[in-house]
Amino acid sequence: MIVALDHIAIAVPDLEKSIKRFMDDFGLKYEGSEDVVAAKTSTAFFPLEQTSIELVHPLNGEGPIAAFLEKKGPGLHHLCFRSDDLDADIARLTEKGYVFLGEPKIGAHNCRVIFIHPKSCDGVLIELNQPSEDGH
Ligand code: CO
Repeated sequence: MIVALDHIAIAVPDLEKSIKRFMDDFGLKYEGSEDVVAAKTSTAFFPLEQTSIELVHPLNGEGPIAAFLEKKGPGLHHLCFRSDDLDADIARLTEKGYVFLGEPKIGAHNCRVIFIHPKSCDGVLIELNQPSEDGH
């Protein structure tokens, strides 16, 4: 079951500049950065009540975020819904015809994550995540 909007991710070409904007200009609490090496992505999180803003930036200048920025430029990258049973939701949605991008992987915050193909969701990339048992 989907239980929350976990975060909204924005693809940014200059991570430090964007971190300063959200921290200094907008006054949000900066939780910290995390490189998700397997996804070739650097992330920075700004938790808000019930959700977070996630900045995503190419790790070492390569990977899916580099391709996204080159093709589409900076902007909204994906929505992430939190699941309390990722495997059950994958099975349920697959049965309804949703197409997933690969298998579940470990993402930021040590969550199990999987992405639904944008073609299945009106052009929006949707991530589902399930926090690990020991939390963040
Ligand atoms: Co995300």
